[in-house]
Amino acid sequence: MHPPIVPGTHVVTGAYGYTGKYIAQRLLDRGLPVATVTNSAGRANPFGEQVRAYPLDFANPSALVESLRGASVLYNTYWVRFNYRHFNFAGAIRNSRTLFNAAKDAGVGRIVHVSITNPSPDSPYEYFRGKAEVEEALRDTGVSHAILRPAVLFGGADILVNNIAWMLRRLPMFGVFGDGKYRVQPIHVEDFADLAIEHALGNENTVVNAIGPATFTYREMVAAVAEAIGVRRPIVSVPAWFGLAVSRIVDRFTGDIALTREEIGGLMDGLLYVDTPPVGSIRLTEWAKENSATLGVRYANEIGRRLKRATAYDKL
Ligand SMILES: NC(=O)c1ccc[n+]([C@@H]2O[C@H](COP(=O)([O-])OP(=O)(O)OC[C@H]3O[C@@H](n4cnc5c(N)ncnc54)[C@H](OP(=O)(O)O)[C@@H]3O)[C@@H](O)[C@H]2O)c1
Repeated sequence: MHPPIVPGTHVVTGAYGYTGKYIAQRLLDRGLPVATVTNSAGRANPFGEQVRAYPLDFANPSALVESLRGASVLYNTYWVRFNYRHFNFAGAIRNSRTLFNAAKDAGVGRIVHVSITNPSPDSPYEYFRGKAEVEEALRDTGVSHAILRPAVLFGGADILVNNIAWMLRRLPMFGVFGDGKYRVQPIHVEDFADLAIEHALGNENTVVNAIGPATFTYREMVAAVAEAIGVRRPIVSVPAWFGLAVSRIVDRFTGDIALTREEIGGLMDGLLYVDTPPVGSIRLTEWAKENSATLGVRYANEIGRRLKRATAYDKL
């Protein structure tokens, strides 16, 4: 039995994960009480006694309600990246509903929810359709909320930008899908955490595109990462099917799923681009140069993070 949280606590999903960890750290920096709900209680707690962990047990909604009772804000980062043997989008939608309803029943004052740019119920991609459905489920609760929609996050234990650097370091050339001219707007994870906290403190229902200061074409982003880490590689256009096939070969060595057909489709359809002003200030180009000694040295493994639940994200 876990002792109840201190009233007014900010509860973050997955504080041993990627964005959840940065949100928790920024909250602690501001002297706020923080707790986490996580399925990864076996991972080392980087915050020690400062952040108490409660189970993110979707099968036990009443326990979730008790874990959240007294919380002022819930930051929800929970989602799955693709359908897999042990998890899928349909389950993630159900689980998100369970979590929102638990927050409502627990009397949580505000929910800051992490979504994606351009979610739509009509999207051909299950990821973007699912995100639209989860946003709707949040609205249905009637709980005061902010929906943050990042395109791509970078910094710390990120996956996409890190693994672009990893491939640049190892492969003789880098293939971009099609012409590579579709746009992306990466935001640094610390800027994102600050944005989440800023919106936790408001009380209007809002939707914010969480994008960084620079818009790149995908090809430009790959070139910027290559330049930052000091590798020269031809960046060539390849058909999406071919890029996916190469990615599958790499997956055999990493034991991961580096990219899915859906992710490539969403990227090429420009869904990681929005026409709204930036909200972050840290620039990918400068950050990549400052972090060139470590960027892409290790592969960041999504499946590893899901299966090895006692190992820290930055070791996987
Ligand atoms: N990373 C990006 O570039 C990016 C871009 C756009 C939008 N987003 C959105 O931002 C949010 C946070 O993303 P993130 O990259 O920071 O994620 P993350 O930390 O890897 O995962 C967030 C939370 O979801 C849980 N989770 C993830 N996959 C799971 C699975 N397959 N089964 C069960 N639990 C799972 C994690 O569990 P544990 O607590 O057990 O670790 C953690 O609590 C997500 O909603 C994502 O869609 C991310």
